[in-house]
This record gives sequence, C-alpha cells and structure tokens, in this order.
Amino acid sequence: MTEFQILKNMQPAPELVREAIKEKPGFGEHFTDHLSHIRFTRDQGWHAHTVKPYGPIILDPAAAVFHYAQEIFEGLKAYRHADGSIWTFRPQLNAARLARSAERIALPQLSEEDFLASLSELVTVDAAWVSAPKNDLDEVSLYLRPFMIASERFLGVRSSHEVDYYVIASPAGPYFSGGIKPVSIWLSRTLKRASAGGTGFAKCGGNYAASLAAGDEAAANGCQQVLFTDAAEGKYLEELGGMNLMLVTSDNTLITPELGDSILDGVTRRSVLELAPQLGLRVEERKIELAEWRERHAAGEIVEAFACGTAAVVTPIGKLVSDDFTIDHGEEPGEITMSLRKTLLDIQYGRAEDTYGWLYKL
Ligand code: COI
Repeated sequence: MTEFQILKNMQPAPELVREAIKEKPGFGEHFTDHLSHIRFTRDQGWHAHTVKPYGPIILDPAAAVFHYAQEIFEGLKAYRHADGSIWTFRPQLNAARLARSAERIALPQLSEEDFLASLSELVTVDAAWVSAPKNDLDEVSLYLRPFMIASERFLGVRSSHEVDYYVIASPAGPYFSGGIKPVSIWLSRTLKRASAGGTGFAKCGGNYAASLAAGDEAAANGCQQVLFTDAAEGKYLEELGGMNLMLVTSDNTLITPELGDSILDGVTRRSVLELAPQLGLRVEERKIELAEWRERHAAGEIVEAFACGTAAVVTPIGKLVSDDFTIDHGEEPGEITMSLRKTLLDIQYGRAEDTYGWLYKL
C-alpha cells in the first residue's frame, strides 16, 4: 500500500471549540483540522499521498475545473460505536461509484485501495472530531467528502492532464434541521436535472449545479427539496435534488425509480432495498409515473414516501407540492419509513449485528 505522509496541523482547533462544534454541528458548516490529498499527473500517475492541515487550496485561475466543471465527488460518514471504535459504511461502493463518475467525466481512476486509505488516514488523524451518539435518536457522525478536480492550467476544451483528489471531513448532525419531521418536496416542471446519455448517474458537481435553480424555486414555495421527472416527457419520477425517492404501498411494497443514465446509484438507496425484505417488504425497481403516485395515493394505495441518501439517511416526505396539485402524506412520519431508518442506523452505529458485512473499520 502507498504510504501517506502525515503533516500535522500545528494550530488545530482548541478542544473547547471542537467540542462546542460537535455539540451543535449542523450539516456541512464546520471542518476538521486536516484533509487528505493525492496528486495526479499524466507522467507520474497518482502520487504524493498526504494528510495535511485543512486550509484553502491554491489553484491557477485557468485551472480546468473553474471553466469546464470537470469535478466529481462522494459522500459517506464515519460513525463512532459504543466501544469507541470508528467505522464507515460500504465505502467500497463509493470507491466504485467514484470510478464510474471519473470515467464519465474523463477524470483518472483512483484505486479502491487509495480511496479507502485516504479515508482511514484522515479519520485516524482527526478521530477526536467523531462524536459519540448520546442516544439511539442522535444522528451524529463525521461526514466525509472525497472530491476530484481538474487542476491543469489550460483553457482548451479537453480532459485535464493534472488532477487533484482530496477528502475533507465535517462533523454532521441531521441534514434537515427540525428533527425527523416529514419534509415537503417541490415538483420541478420546467427545470430538468439530467437526460438520457447525460451525466445524471455520475456524482459530478454539474448535476448539482443543474438542480440549484429548481432548489431555489422549491424554497420559494416552502419546500426543502425538489423532485425531478424525466427530461423527455416529464412523466416519470427520477430523483430529488440530492437524494433518491422511495414510495411504500399499502400491500407492503417498496417502489423506487429504476437506475439508468439519469439516476444516482445511491448507497443508502441500495442498502434500503436490500434491507426491505427483512421487514416483510417486496421491492420494485421500475419506471414510476407521477400519475401513479397521485392516483394510488388518492386510492389509499401509496401510503408513505421518503427520501434517502447518505446525508438525508431516510427522511419522511410529508408532501409533494406543485403549482396545481398536492399529494399529502401527513405530518407524521410513516411507520415503514421509520423502521427502515432505524434498521439502517442501528447497523451503522453498531447497535445491531452487521450480518451483511457492510461496516468498514477506519
Ligand atoms: C450525500 O448524501 O452524501 C450527498 O452528496 C448529497 C448532498 C445533499 C449532501
């Protein structure tokens, strides 16, 4: 394995400051004392594996990432278990998805070994930033954000010959403030996120940039997330601005849009689908018409809806709002949504046996 050089931060956050941040972390607002970095050049490949003090990155203003958005990222979490040990969840899936994203955005492949080591080395140095949950409802973790950028100084439009990969870490509470309260989703009618043959399946910054105007529209309409339908017809459900979508029927079926060019293969999505049979649920991954959600909800057949993702975990959806109709799932989280959420979190925090071998010790 390639050794990481560890350059310690000589001015880490004072313990009092760190502990105050961990008490009230929010989401994505605070960062730890270090980051991981690996450099790529055409000649040398991946090299200079380092953990170093967290701080601004100096890039040339002509770096390709600023102009052509050649960038991809990942998101996963580190959890502290009751015995003090620190674990992450199915990181091999993130490594594989990073590789698929890299291929689509014409960035170089980072090996699974380097990916895993970049996480372990950083979390080892910044272990003091990983909070222990106070109880079973306390959703605290260290959110890990690996990302890869095209850093070559060149304005021609071609894939960059110089690339930098980083991991930063952020102490995190729930993504949605306000506890486990159902969120409202805005239906984006005109603004689309992804299309066939595009980059929707890749975890690249461009997909999220494409979702932001619709996200603002959602916020202006009192909603916390936005739902995208397919770009061609606006007929089929795809995904939310930053998470996948699932529906639950009254006959215990979990349905979710099938993967394709325009849907992200979420690790939480996959895990929920794999856990569902254990809770007596059948699983259907298929095309779902927006009209099916409306009609079967009205008929009492679609009884719960939820969002899922690393940041969101499993978040109940209370309402789908559009300019001419609302689907109302009520103010209380659904029972199946909450059992799936608990089953998943219990594994992640080491409260339930990890019979699937999903946990990875950092
Ligand atoms: C994640 O869930 O890790 C994401 O990258 C989505 C974003 C909403 C934070």
